[in-house]
Amino acid sequence: MRVLSGIQPTGRFHWGNYFGAIRQYIDLQHGNEAYYFIANLHALTTVRDPKVLQQNTLDAALDLLALGLDPAKAALFVQSDVPEVTELTWLLMSITPMGLLERCHSYKDKAARGIAADAGLFTYPVLMSADILIYDSEVVPVGADQIQHIEVARDIAGSFNHLFGETFVLPKYKVLESSAKVPGLDGEKMSKSYSNTIELFEPVGPARKKIMRITTDSRPMEDPKPDYENDHLYQLFSLFATEAERQEMAALYLRGNFGYGTVKKALADAAEKFFAEARAKREALAANPAQVAEILREGAARARKKAREVLDRAKKACGIS
Ligand code: ADP
Ligand code: TRP
Repeated sequence: MRVLSGIQPTGRFHWGNYFGAIRQYIDLQHGNEAYYFIANLHALTTVRDPKVLQQNTLDAALDLLALGLDPAKAALFVQSDVPEVTELTWLLMSITPMGLLERCHSYKDKAARGIAADAGLFTYPVLMSADILIYDSEVVPVGADQIQHIEVARDIAGSFNHLFGETFVLPKYKVLESSAKVPGLDGEKMSKSYSNTIELFEPVGPARKKIMRITTDSRPMEDPKPDYENDHLYQLFSLFATEAERQEMAALYLRGNFGYGTVKKALADAAEKFFAEARAKREALAANPAQVAEILREGAARARKKAREVLDRAKKACGIS
């Protein structure tokens, strides 16, 4: 299968990004032809400081490689290093109905809040469609919030094929249901926009302090808590714990007579252990920027080869060549 996904470098990755998205990418590099890219063109719709965008892009590459993305298996590259994508975007834009984009929540949500959107945000799903279609992608692993955009890519591909003959492969999305929503410090969905995140490679001390601040209810310590599965602290612990540790924790909730501080400490320990190897790997990579640059260059060269082929096919189909 040909698998593709992209992730925006809009800040440091957090637990929600890992369990909701990144972990799937890494799993899917095995036994598939995989392409993963850092969506810096999409990030430009929100990040307006060039130094920050550059730094975020490098950080994203370091994080992905540290977490196990293997450049020998998957092509890892920066979106803008494949300029064929922006050229295809125009071909697709020319056949995309305004109504289709007006229905997309990326734009609609902002408009509903009275925030003025620019054309980049409005046409964001078309650039994303080009990202997907240009590699003949069959499967696109994404977080649940991105499903609508994959449907847009399918719609646009279908219209193009209908107008100009079979050109694009219709992609399918793949969502990891079990981790659809990783809760943040306050129990709401973990998100940069809510300032309730714990970053993957945040220094251990500050991360522990944040964990200690996770909100909890005020039921007496002695009470049994049979609804433990709804407790966001328990949910977070479950992400990192082994099955045996999870069962032990569930038993504690059922029994009562424990303080949430105990759970927080167990969570901090489990999370630290979970990311320890990746943290060490990230430090080694960060000390070797030339190696990272070479990985991205090589990834872009592989991606461009495929992109060129599909772009030529699309141009020929619609009479631009
Ligand atoms: P943020 O909400 O912090 O800005 P993004 O929107 O950049 O995060 O998310 C990038 C990817 O990570 C998306 O595919 C998204 O679905 C996934 N993701 C982000 N936060 C969570 C979460 N709390 N739970 C599950 N998946 C998440
Ligand atoms: N819009 C996606 C997000 O915010 C990132 C992205 C850009 C993407 N292009 C893509 C994801 C193509 C999958 C396929 O998460």
